[in-house]
Amino acid sequence: MPQKQANGYTILTVQPTLPQPIDLMTEPIESIEVSLGDRSYPIWISTGLTESAEQPHFAKYFRAAVGDCTHVVLIHDAAVSNTIASRVEQQLDQAGIRITNVSIPSGETSKSVSMLDSIWNTMLESGTDRRSVVIAVGGGVVGDLAGFAAASFTRGLRFVQVPTTLLSMVDSSVGGKTGINLPGGKNMVGSFWQPQMVWIDTQSLSTLPDRDFISGMAEVIKYGVIEDAEFFSWLQDKAARLIEKDAETLRYAIRKSCESKARVVAEDERETSGRRAILNYGHTFAHAIEATAGYGVCLHGEAVSIGMQMAAHLAIDMELCDRSLLEEQTAVLSAAKLPLAWKDADPEKMLPVMSRDKKVLHGKLRFVLPDRIGHVAMVGDVPSEKVIAAILACRDEPKG
Ligand code: GLY
Repeated sequence: MPQKQANGYTILTVQPTLPQPIDLMTEPIESIEVSLGDRSYPIWISTGLTESAEQPHFAKYFRAAVGDCTHVVLIHDAAVSNTIASRVEQQLDQAGIRITNVSIPSGETSKSVSMLDSIWNTMLESGTDRRSVVIAVGGGVVGDLAGFAAASFTRGLRFVQVPTTLLSMVDSSVGGKTGINLPGGKNMVGSFWQPQMVWIDTQSLSTLPDRDFISGMAEVIKYGVIEDAEFFSWLQDKAARLIEKDAETLRYAIRKSCESKARVVAEDERETSGRRAILNYGHTFAHAIEATAGYGVCLHGEAVSIGMQMAAHLAIDMELCDRSLLEEQTAVLSAAKLPLAWKDADPEKMLPVMSRDKKVLHGKLRFVLPDRIGHVAMVGDVPSEKVIAAILACRDEPKG
């Protein structure tokens, strides 16, 4: 409380309300903790809990996660302005929180320096201060962009992720990677900035276009290949059912994926030991596909699916695994209706992009390659002829 002094001045004591542990466990919601010491945070997973204005679940969990808050910068994908973003806004408004709304055009091209500049200026003009909280509502593009705005404005604001696409629910919203693209390289500028909570409401997936939903399946399947063989065999049974968006099956797949991601991030938050790099299985190829096709032409998950196929071909050529791994991976990816090949794959264009990849260390390319389902290794000194052969092997859809 401000204290009035005899001389007329008021002494302000800054005592922020601390986040509170949630003890109201009556809602149908699941949680996973990302264990990072004093930066640990929960991932909440539910279906339909953001909908109701009468029961403001989101506002309650938000308060519990961030503590004091009188101003929010709500950065959302224009595609969800009238759905989940407006529900979040309504609940925060009812809770007496001032809201600055920032709508971002859908698509990878929004992850740019100019968009970030415009967000910074809106934040400045709207009186954003160090106790404001940034909330990202949308897919990976909005999460990465808003996260970097939160990390950089006044050297760091609290941040909450509300992912609305499958890909952002299972990957980009968890683990604190934020950033933007440069014309010559994806995610080249950014920082690690962990959110205070991740709020997943699978209801958002019901309005997600099929192509985007399926694209997210690539990251789900990735977890099975890199570190969870049991989950991979579950996917062998359930991939086809998953793309019908059955709520319970989906929540299970999202939970398993987030558990995988949380485990890896807890072991290597800043990708220094090599453990976190396993999450980039297929991504060195995928980033080169996306950059050479032009950002936004090939969806990220589609590129990851093709990239995983290229990586499996490379692993076979390097004698790390046999063809059965590729066959099993192919079967699950195609059950999820993901692309397996890219007819324009051009090693001459892709290799220069790959040499700028963040996995390059001391000028040497490294790849995350599987040696069995559920296990991958970081492999260096890969001859470029083998990389070229792996790219060319995925120009045509596999036969049979
Ligand atoms: N998407 C890879 C990572 O978060 O490390």
